[in-house]
Amino acid sequence: MSDTSIDFVSAIRTIPDYPKPGIMFRDITTLLADPEVFRAAVDAMVSPYKDQGVALVAGIEARGFILGGAMSHQLSAGFVPIRKKGKLPHETIRVAYSLEYGVDEMEMHRDAVAPGTRVLLTDDLIATGGTAEAAVKLLRELGAEIVGACFVIDLPELGGRRRLEALGVSVKTLVAFDGH
Ligand code: PRP
Ligand code: MG
Repeated sequence: MSDTSIDFVSAIRTIPDYPKPGIMFRDITTLLADPEVFRAAVDAMVSPYKDQGVALVAGIEARGFILGGAMSHQLSAGFVPIRKKGKLPHETIRVAYSLEYGVDEMEMHRDAVAPGTRVLLTDDLIATGGTAEAAVKLLRELGAEIVGACFVIDLPELGGRRRLEALGVSVKTLVAFDGH
């Protein structure tokens, strides 16, 4: 999953010590604001899945919504949001998770995915993998068949890719950053 003509790394802004000292925040707003790079990123994200029968793209709040919406359009798939707790109006299923800095809960509508539906999971970044693992648990509780999980950014030192792969989910990422 790479487009050698586009420098995704340079399009991502790094902000040291945000939101707390020691964290190097990888900010994709600069990538999203560049028409050529944003299109290339979305194209590269969906490319491995074009013939995989993806019926739904599941995007993780909040930045996964931006990518997931564009990806679902490219794949002619539907989109389903995985949201922080308390945001979805209908009956939900919920899972608690810890992330790089804090704890939270995520939800999906109980009727969001029919059993056996082929779903592609996406988010902007995988760090510890706690967020994505929670999303996998929710999707599997609904009986989804997870085709794969794709992210713009991998922080390999934090082990998220291995964590998802241990759950039997194939992971693709556009770029990796050392240090976090
Ligand atoms: C960030 C990022 C991923 C998650 C990755 O989201 O956008 O969703 O953390 O971390 P993990 O792999 O260690 O779980 P954040 O929770 O900051 O929320 P946001 O996307 O709503 O800003
Ligand atoms: Mg996020």
